[in-house]
Amino acid sequence: MQNKVYIETYGCQMNVADSEVAAAILTDNGFTICKDITEADIIFLNTCSIRENAEKRIWGRFKSIRYLKKKKPDLLTGLIGCMAQRLKEKILETDQFIDIIAGPDSYRHLPSLIEEASSGHKAVNVILSREETYSDILPLRLDNNSVTAFVSIMRGCNNMCTYCVVPYVRGVERSRNPDSVLGEISDLSEKGYKEVTLLGQNVNSYKWTEGNNIINFAQLLERTALENPSMRFRFSTSHPKDISDDLLRAIARHDNICKHIHLPAQSGSNRILKLMNRGYTREAYMERISAIRSIIPDCSLSSDIITGFCTENDEDHQDTLALMEWAEFDFSYMFRYSERPGTKAIRKLKDDITEDIKTKRLNEIINLQNKLSVKSKRKDIGRVFEVLSEGFSKRSEDFLFGRTSQNKVVIFPKGNLKKGDFVKIRVKNCTSATLIGEII
Ligand code: 5AD
Ligand code: SF4
Repeated sequence: MQNKVYIETYGCQMNVADSEVAAAILTDNGFTICKDITEADIIFLNTCSIRENAEKRIWGRFKSIRYLKKKKPDLLTGLIGCMAQRLKEKILETDQFIDIIAGPDSYRHLPSLIEEASSGHKAVNVILSREETYSDILPLRLDNNSVTAFVSIMRGCNNMCTYCVVPYVRGVERSRNPDSVLGEISDLSEKGYKEVTLLGQNVNSYKWTEGNNIINFAQLLERTALENPSMRFRFSTSHPKDISDDLLRAIARHDNICKHIHLPAQSGSNRILKLMNRGYTREAYMERISAIRSIIPDCSLSSDIITGFCTENDEDHQDTLALMEWAEFDFSYMFRYSERPGTKAIRKLKDDITEDIKTKRLNEIINLQNKLSVKSKRKDIGRVFEVLSEGFSKRSEDFLFGRTSQNKVVIFPKGNLKKGDFVKIRVKNCTSATLIGEII
């Protein structure tokens, strides 16, 4: 029986969580997960479709997998996740060596798909579901850091931002039963995990109805924090149009809810925000940031920015830079716009900004963010933070690294500490990427 499976994950935190669901389903069905690709009988790539670059990387990876398959003809190869969902036909036509294709709602079928592929057939399942949340699956943690974990609280997205492929590859939004979320977290707590990030494309629209009772995200997060006082909690991603004062107050009330909000602005121009169908204006976004600053004074903020969206002119671009400067983002993920098949933008708008201009604007945005990130780190020098130690620093085993509640990485001398300890650290200095601190 071919039963050693290797899973390689690309893309977002959600994909990391999905690979862990797939791994659990496979191990429950007699397969084992291996860490060395050369030992594998079956290789799965869990893929990402969100930007063109993400897909390009995976096409590149196909080539080396093809080489492995030549050396080991019995090897089965599979694509799972968003790109599999999107490109089923193209992959089957052009890359004969892929045996299995499973979309994000098809992981329960992996054992039967493997069986089908073992008998020499291509095995495909890309049916999207309106209900699947994998509630009953206890994910198998693959990263082994044993301190931090992701827990998915919902799947899919209903927002239909015009540039985004997610609603098409991950399907409609559905929330997961809060009891199963809490059950998964209490299992992590028993196993010694200290930090959990609750995941959804738009966690602010989490909603679970039971009789007359509706649980929203603020309530779920608060219950999670109260029931697990020895752990701390993060969440991602918040949508500016839905982030409520109730949620901000819940974050402020609990020391074990981290003081960091990822609130993607995407653009600072009202005209572009409208074309993107983001559902908020620049002013509304700024109002939400002012609310965050007043309700949670020590909260850090991060953003996603897309540059060069259809028709973006220099004034729009300047609006984005000005918004970033005003918001003083602690960090940002910044992207050049790329057209995604099936989206409203590709159907109705023209991708009319040249690559040169996109690159020039992206560089300006990156330079500004670098400046803001340095400013944000310098501000921390002399301050004391509670840090969760996540392991040895990359450079030396005499140092540990961890994160502040604000999600900034800190390096500090090991002392008598170990991975998983919470420790008070005074920041002494910083580099462009990290804070440097000492134990107090
Ligand atoms: N082009 C560029 N960036 C995109 N994103 C999503 N779709 C696209 C696209 N077509 C970015 C958004 C989103 C992040 C996860 O990826 O900024 O918040
Ligand atoms: Fe895509 Fe918008 Fe949904 Fe985020 S909120 S996943 S950008 S459609």
